[in-house]
Amino acid sequence: MTVYKDRIDTIRQQQNIDRDTLAWLLETQEEEVLSYLKDSAREVADAVYGKQVFIRGLIEFTNYCRNDCYYCGIRRSNPDCDRYRLSQEEILSCCREGYELGFRTFVLQGGEDGYYTDDRICELVSKIKELYPDCAVTLSIGEKSFASYQAFFDAGADRYLLRHETADEAHYRKLHPKELSLSKRKQCLWDLKEIGYQVGCGFMVGSPGQTVDTLYEDLQFILELQPHMVGIGPFIPQKDTPFGTEQAGTMDQTLRLLSIIRLLHPHVLLPATTALGTIHPLGRERGILAGANVVMPNLSPVAVRDKYKLYDNKICTGDEAAECRHCMAGRMKNIGYEVVVARGDYSLM
Ligand code: 5AD
Ligand code: FES
Repeated sequence: MTVYKDRIDTIRQQQNIDRDTLAWLLETQEEEVLSYLKDSAREVADAVYGKQVFIRGLIEFTNYCRNDCYYCGIRRSNPDCDRYRLSQEEILSCCREGYELGFRTFVLQGGEDGYYTDDRICELVSKIKELYPDCAVTLSIGEKSFASYQAFFDAGADRYLLRHETADEAHYRKLHPKELSLSKRKQCLWDLKEIGYQVGCGFMVGSPGQTVDTLYEDLQFILELQPHMVGIGPFIPQKDTPFGTEQAGTMDQTLRLLSIIRLLHPHVLLPATTALGTIHPLGRERGILAGANVVMPNLSPVAVRDKYKLYDNKICTGDEAAECRHCMAGRMKNIGYEVVVARGDYSLM
């Protein structure tokens, strides 16, 4: 057995990685190492989830945000962001369309928008659960108090996505204004877990200031938190933000990290993100082949899609939900995978 295989097999067996091994896997240019990494990760994903890919219907329901993250196009101090919010009726009509297209998870994502009070979110979640009791509802609406998270959960929310963005203090401060803190962010994730949500954390690949060391901390945090989901995608500059002229992250680094995360955390729900599809026409397919097992096509009304501009050149902004749904089924079929009509919960099997 060659040494590189041993090293990768060890990550898989021990579900752990040391800093030097991470540096090696992020930097090596040896094709056989990269293909062994990718194939090992895919083997692990196949063993847990088979040849199935879960779909989530993403509803970007508001781009108002009280935060000012330096990387994000919907930050409050971007005057060029054309603001919108969907009404409850509009969101429910996205769900109706999504349900007919076979979606059994709805992801409600938005900025931290004061209009959407806890009461309004609870009402929305309970209506969706009442109309579609066989569906999971995922919220992705940022940092809230324990009591708010508890109220959403009691209203029926099943899952919550809150990327930690980086687990390194200094890096966190480089990406965010001072009113945001890593400790608060981590506390939110622990609160969500304690309440009983299926929880997702994650980060951007290639964000300004990211290094092997910050990534090492990200992986250690993932091992500690044991989230049910991990969302990663390349950083892509948005021209109206302070990071508008920074370098984008690459597909290559994103794929390596997807594979490493799959080896470290075999059962994790791991999306091949829209950002990955944005930097390369086959990014999402390659993401699945590198160990991802979830895709999240957009269910938002076409009229608002290009306004939810976290980053530039986002794909699918002109496509109807049905087009994305069928496009995705075709893309997955092309690489030997099948999109399934199922809630797609975290599997312990
Ligand atoms: N490029 C890539 N991803 C971004 N996000 C925000 N801005 C960008 C960007 N410029 C990601 C963040 C956030 C998620 C909803 O989108 O990680 O948590
Ligand atoms: Fe939207 Fe392909 S997934 S058009």
